[in-house]
Amino acid sequence: MKQAETIRQVREQISRWKGDGLSIGLVPTMGYLHEGHESLIAASVQQNDRTVVSVFVNPMQFGPSEDLQAYPRDLQRDAALCEAAGAALLFHPQPEEMYAPDFCSFVDMTGLTEGLCGKSRPTHFRGVCTVVMKLFQIVQPDRAYFGQKDAQQLAVIRRMVRDLDVPVEIVGCPIVREADGLAKSSRNSYLSVPERRAAPVLYRALCRGRELLEQGERDADRVARAVRDVLAQEPLARIDYVSVVDAGSLQPVSAVERDVLVALAVYIGNTRLIDNITCQIS
Ligand code: PAF
Repeated sequence: MKQAETIRQVREQISRWKGDGLSIGLVPTMGYLHEGHESLIAASVQQNDRTVVSVFVNPMQFGPSEDLQAYPRDLQRDAALCEAAGAALLFHPQPEEMYAPDFCSFVDMTGLTEGLCGKSRPTHFRGVCTVVMKLFQIVQPDRAYFGQKDAQQLAVIRRMVRDLDVPVEIVGCPIVREADGLAKSSRNSYLSVPERRAAPVLYRALCRGRELLEQGERDADRVARAVRDVLAQEPLARIDYVSVVDAGSLQPVSAVERDVLVALAVYIGNTRLIDNITCQIS
């Protein structure tokens, strides 16, 4: 596996591969890779001739009081994992490589970025869209891979690509969970032992929501309330939001008539975790 720290090195490698007619998959990450990322790399390796993984803790998507400095990093371990998973190139730029001191161009989106996580993280998706668009320009992948755990991010990126005619296929991959249901996340490493024990309450709460919908409940408020009730039983959990939204548009629904996403963000101690479940309504 090759490694690159500069945009120029990546461009040179990509143009050699493109010259040979090879297809390229991109897996954008912020590193501290886990089985969720591994599943994205595996999907890309299967569907493309060459897979590029980017590891970049993107300062632009962190709010002023968020965990940019504390965000876990382990490039050596990430490189070993990428290599074992079959990646052909690991791109790990420094912030100065991605953002010139006078950087002032952004990809901004209205609507889709304003609900759910956008409410408590108002500048987050502007940072995500800007860096992902830059990575698309640098790598020019045929396909790019994102996890369904960040359901809003996936929807936002699909919309950006459609609205701005970016020639890349966006592939969404299922959430990978621990045995007790906790969705894999780099941020799980922040959890103390008691917090880690408490964290599966997110998935238990989502499953309660799904159970009600499967039993025929169609009032979204009642579903959300039941999810909150499960979370309320866990003293270490503090709810940021619980929402029942249309699975396609991510707009809140009151009566459930089509497939919905039950989505939540919950603080366990100081760590904000997100999770979601898609419920098919037949
Ligand atoms: O999902 C992430 O890890 C990040 O938001 C992404 C897509 C790599 C952009 O920095």
